[in-house]
Amino acid sequence: MSEEIAVERLTEAQARAELARLADVLARANAAYHVEDAPVMSDAAFDALKARNAAIEARFPALKRADSPSDQVGAAPAEGFAKTRHSVRMLSLANAFEAEDIVEFDARIRRYLGLSDSAPLAYTSEPKIDGLSLSLRYEAGHLVTAATRGDGETGENVTANAHTIADIPAWIEGAPDILEVRGEVYMSHADFEALNARQAERGDKPFANPRNAAAGSLRQLDATITAARPLRFFAYGWGETSAPLAATQMGAMARLGDLGFQTNPLTTLCNGPTALIDHYRKIEQDRATLGYDIDGVVYKVNDLSLQARLGFRATTPRWAIAHKFPAELAWTRLVAIDIQVGRTGALSPVARLGPVTVGGVVVRNATLHNEDYIAGRDSKGGLIREGRDIRVGDWVQVYRAGDVIPKIADVDLSKRPADATPYRFPETCPECGSEARREPGDSVRRCMGGLICPAQAVERLKHFVSRAAFDIEGLGAKQVEAFYRDGWIREPADIFTLEARYGQGLQQLKNREGWGEKSAKNLFEAIDEKRKISFSRILFSLGIRHVGEQASSLIARHYGTWAEFTAAMDSARALQGPEWERLLGIDGVGEVMATSLVQAMTEPHERASIDRLTAHLEVEAAARPDTSGSPVAGKTLVFTGTLEKMTRAEAKARAEALGAKVAGSVSARTDLLIAGPGAGSKAKKAVELGIEVIDEDAWLALVGAQ
Ligand code: IVH
Repeated sequence: MSEEIAVERLTEAQARAELARLADVLARANAAYHVEDAPVMSDAAFDALKARNAAIEARFPALKRADSPSDQVGAAPAEGFAKTRHSVRMLSLANAFEAEDIVEFDARIRRYLGLSDSAPLAYTSEPKIDGLSLSLRYEAGHLVTAATRGDGETGENVTANAHTIADIPAWIEGAPDILEVRGEVYMSHADFEALNARQAERGDKPFANPRNAAAGSLRQLDATITAARPLRFFAYGWGETSAPLAATQMGAMARLGDLGFQTNPLTTLCNGPTALIDHYRKIEQDRATLGYDIDGVVYKVNDLSLQARLGFRATTPRWAIAHKFPAELAWTRLVAIDIQVGRTGALSPVARLGPVTVGGVVVRNATLHNEDYIAGRDSKGGLIREGRDIRVGDWVQVYRAGDVIPKIADVDLSKRPADATPYRFPETCPECGSEARREPGDSVRRCMGGLICPAQAVERLKHFVSRAAFDIEGLGAKQVEAFYRDGWIREPADIFTLEARYGQGLQQLKNREGWGEKSAKNLFEAIDEKRKISFSRILFSLGIRHVGEQASSLIARHYGTWAEFTAAMDSARALQGPEWERLLGIDGVGEVMATSLVQAMTEPHERASIDRLTAHLEVEAAARPDTSGSPVAGKTLVFTGTLEKMTRAEAKARAEALGAKVAGSVSARTDLLIAGPGAGSKAKKAVELGIEVIDEDAWLALVGAQ
């Protein structure tokens, strides 16, 4: 095969054929990566092919093709679907893997609700369908919008496609005037096999698994293609409704069934964790015969009034959990260990593997976590794998749990090559040569190069433009990498001056590889669209260590405006004082996160870079909970003593939802003390300070929750 022939030895005819082949292979890989979200090769393999293409072109300039891969940066993003804002956010589920996690889930709910261990508490248990979620909005019984989950707030409008799915009724009778039905679109095993056989007959690429086939089929711009694909739909929940569907989850499912939706027939009511785990085992046993893919079992509190009391964390409900099936395993050869430098400087070892199929997906890379993990010990000096280390050349066991990156579980010492040597973890950054230091108590080694390390800068930029962050159409990881390499974008602020600097008549950008007049214009428009951005997104985009999506949204909702937030960070600079305490008081913000956040926001270079960025942006205020009419909005409350009608956690969550701050101790800043029986020194101090003290009943009356 021509692939094996070294570039220097290619004849002209071979070179021409090889350029044609590479143009085709790379174009497909590009589309798979950018448009279909289903990469068909690793980045390294892609880069190697692109380098080979460039080397051949350098040797035979006359053979360079009009559609040369060298001139293409990335495929256009999937365009064309209108965006739909979900009236009620589409959340995800917390995951559990072990039976103990389920016992803890039940215990946590009981604690929150103040229920004893013996009080009855029923849950529904149903399969977790491995497809993609869809929200169907019915108004006056008619299907008016169908939208994918997207980022949970905004999805793609796929109404025309949903209309082609037989399980989705176009109109329903006897439903509330407004009803959003939520569920999972999936493809059965039989339909998947038949579809792949048809793909093969036509010379089209087969789908890797039913989930990809379902996603690819639903997200077709041409609804006639979706119509020809056998998609199905199970309803499992709802979003906005103008009237309650029922009083229980089970009742609501029955109601959805009556309205004409498919609900999963294995849905069962279970009392307590033991019954849940029994049902899980039964479903796990039947898994292979169901005829469609499931990746676990979902448990939900049955009583909807309890669901309402339990409410939500930032992105997951407290009243539900996904009990996932164990990971799938496979053995393969460890070919090499590469070190990647992340945006916070962490050196992460990546295993390069002989390709192997794990749970229907070809795996070539896996994470090795950190140097201790490779060496066979944990961060506290205990043994992992009974102390067996991992060496290049070893035969290793790979597993995938859920959609997470593959991991290495174990190593087979009987197959270790005689010349394998223990892996030596680098002590300098492979990207910038700076010292790579491991701080006491940290499990990872970090490059000390900071902003001078190109790998950190690029990774931060990639994070900045990623989907959950700025999500600028046409500016993905590959593009920012290229812009960084050429010095056009060094930090996030540069994205917003790109047009001013290089957009002159679009000439300069147009001359870049892969950019034409239209794509350049589209890029500038896409950038302009993001000049207005939500507080939580920009905070998440900064890529501050320990400050993920959930934390960003909590913090944004707490401070409301960017100006208030930055002023608070400045006041908390010394990691002490009232603003520091206030930050620590946010439910979900711990000391490690708070320290990282304040340090990043007040370190002079970092802050200057952030200020340069926000100078180009309008940061939208975060929607604080609707507290109009709330008697405690903006007030600082302290709870003390025993509460009898609800637990501390619930009282705190409710007070916060009404716009109050809940503090742990009484000070001159306290507005109100809610004291139950047994209140001691706090109540005394409050009286001394002249602070109003009320009991639990007065509190419930005040907030209208008797
Ligand atoms: S309930 C508030 N029930 O799993 C969230 N989700 O990991 C309500 N899924 O985005 C989700 N089967 O797409 C629920 N029986 C089931 C499900 C299910 C599949 C998906 C759903 C969700 C994801 C969360």
